[in-house]
Amino acid sequence: MLIAIDGPAGAGKSTVARAVARALGFAHLDSGAMYRCVALLSLDSPGTAPGTLAQAASIEFGFGGDKGRVVLDGRDVTAEIRAPEVSEAASRVAADPRVREAMVARQRELVAVGDWVAEGRDVGTVVAPDAEVKVFLTASPQERARRRAGELGADPDTVLAEQTLRDERDIGREHSPLAPASDAVMLDTTGLTVDEVVGHIAALAAGHHTSSRA
Ligand code: DC
Repeated sequence: MLIAIDGPAGAGKSTVARAVARALGFAHLDSGAMYRCVALLSLDSPGTAPGTLAQAASIEFGFGGDKGRVVLDGRDVTAEIRAPEVSEAASRVAADPRVREAMVARQRELVAVGDWVAEGRDVGTVVAPDAEVKVFLTASPQERARRRAGELGADPDTVLAEQTLRDERDIGREHSPLAPASDAVMLDTTGLTVDEVVGHIAALAAGHHTSSRA
């Protein structure tokens, strides 16, 4: 089974996707981490086209004992890819169709086998339009900025201003703009606890099992 969780930055996707995966015993795919890896490469090699870097990159995710680790070309970049300048660069490289093509192909390969919770912007629309469960997480811009600022120890107003720019770029880009799949369940997480959101998604997954057996 594949559970697709899409939505804007700060809607709670990563926390929720990780918790749903743990609760159901599914593997977790953080597709944003892949765009962040390409962003890191393009910051290191500004003269090379991001699409070329994306095609050559080896991006591995830790499972089992290494759960949650991200390894890029043999280097553990788990912490580095969360830096604000990488977030900014990720939003830029994610608008490049060659980068998207390379990342989507790898994401499809990964989720083809087994049970997955895959989070991103285009999982339910492009990567896996056949996903059994599709959720689009939202939260108010202020709430999203507050959460991100808390994680980063940064000023909420600065985070809100940067987030607004990234949102505009993610929503307005020509290739795979951020948008819910027509059959996604919209879930506003403003004021909800992680457990409440996880419970809701687990119920959707259980409902799918029940209805497909009926
Ligand atoms: O979820 P995140 O903040 O780690 O994502 C980093 C950037 O990558 C963000 O600007 C949106 C982009 N992204 C995307 O375009 N498609 C995805 N499936 C995941 C992330």
